[in-house]
Amino acid sequence: MDLKAHLSQLEDLLIPHQKIWGQEIIHHFPNGLNDYPTAWLAEAQNLSHFDLWQLDCNEIPVNLGPQLQQMLLPLQNASQREIFQSADAHHFDPKLFFKVKEKKYHEVCTILNLLSKLQKHHHRRLVDIGSGQGHLTRICAEKLNLETHAIESNSEFIHLGRARLKKSPLKSPKASLKFHQQVFGDPNELATIITDQGEETILLGLHTCGPLAIDQLRASQQYPKLTNINIPCCYQRITDLSQCNLSGYVRLAWSSYALTLAARAHGQMSYSDFCHKERVKYYRYALHWFLLEFYQRSDFQSVGDSPQREYRAPFSHYVKNKLQYLNLAPTHEDQVDADKWYLSSPVQHMLQRLFIANIIRWRFGQALEQVLLLDRALWMQDKGLKVKIEKLFDSNISPRSHAITVLPR
Ligand SMILES: C[S@@+](CC[C@H](N)C(=O)[O-])C[C@H]1O[C@@H](n2cnc3c(N)ncnc32)[C@H](O)[C@@H]1O
Repeated sequence: MDLKAHLSQLEDLLIPHQKIWGQEIIHHFPNGLNDYPTAWLAEAQNLSHFDLWQLDCNEIPVNLGPQLQQMLLPLQNASQREIFQSADAHHFDPKLFFKVKEKKYHEVCTILNLLSKLQKHHHRRLVDIGSGQGHLTRICAEKLNLETHAIESNSEFIHLGRARLKKSPLKSPKASLKFHQQVFGDPNELATIITDQGEETILLGLHTCGPLAIDQLRASQQYPKLTNINIPCCYQRITDLSQCNLSGYVRLAWSSYALTLAARAHGQMSYSDFCHKERVKYYRYALHWFLLEFYQRSDFQSVGDSPQREYRAPFSHYVKNKLQYLNLAPTHEDQVDADKWYLSSPVQHMLQRLFIANIIRWRFGQALEQVLLLDRALWMQDKGLKVKIEKLFDSNISPRSHAITVLPR
């Protein structure tokens, strides 16, 4: 299917449910629930706790009712991509991966295999955008004998990367690594590094947050012979929503809540993480309702994170801390028994419905991310560039798993 047809297919599935994915359920409490078809809520309520966990892990439980299946199956089919097969496994000096997590190991191996395949284009230079401390840049330099450049805005990361390089210089005499402390934005800033039209250069951005990914892709318009590999993340950092319709083909009305969903609704979670998430959501929703009911605070209050143990303590304890955080005098404490209120059946029933609705809402995240990727790919294609979208990583290991690759023209 071509990019435009794919975008259109996804949008047709998403647009009827814009009110669900476009806003947080708690913001329109209790009316937000009215946007969810009653049959969806009823079917999800009939699932066992185990099946609900599966649903929240992007699975389709066998016992799922027909109405939810009818919505989820096409959405899931239209959002999934085959994973990149990295056949030639790379072997590394374990010292390079000392204290490195499985996620990073998987990402580095996959990228190295991808770059090896692209080496038939005889690249000699790699520019890593938003490189962090330059771990990946360094491995690419060593393994592929490249001249590498790590561009990073955070001075601390640059300092750590340089210190490491000084302590353990690159082994290969054909490789080099240079750090550039720079807030990357304008592709013209690459002129001191890329001295030709880009034919010898790979631009790489692993988990480029928000607008940085777009700035990286824009470089292909300036240097059409460049090989540009971008793996975006943190879409919610995009504040200018026009950057979610770069191609001009997008019909969805984006919101910051939808961008958060696109960025986060992916990974698998253990059953115990799911149970913790449930406790957090119940307390968070109950607090909102409590403030509305007893303090007439209808606006959404940001209340900060709490340590895990706080969600195991009674609700009254959590409320007390949050009232302090919000500088609200606990005037009602002696009049309202917060625990009795929380455990009452109307409150528990409502919290369960809100939690279930939230699980359903998160199921739109993958499709929303695909819309963002397709928009960017179409933007590149309409500039006459050759582009592809690939799922590079196993999303159970690295949830931000998709890459947009712009190939040399
Ligand atoms: C999510 S981290 C990814 C780091 C590294 N690529 C990795 O995957 O481990 C994104 C990095 O981009 C850097 N960054 C964000 N905006 C930037 C910009 N405009 N120019 C340069 N670096 C930027 C951040 O400081 C951060 O280190």
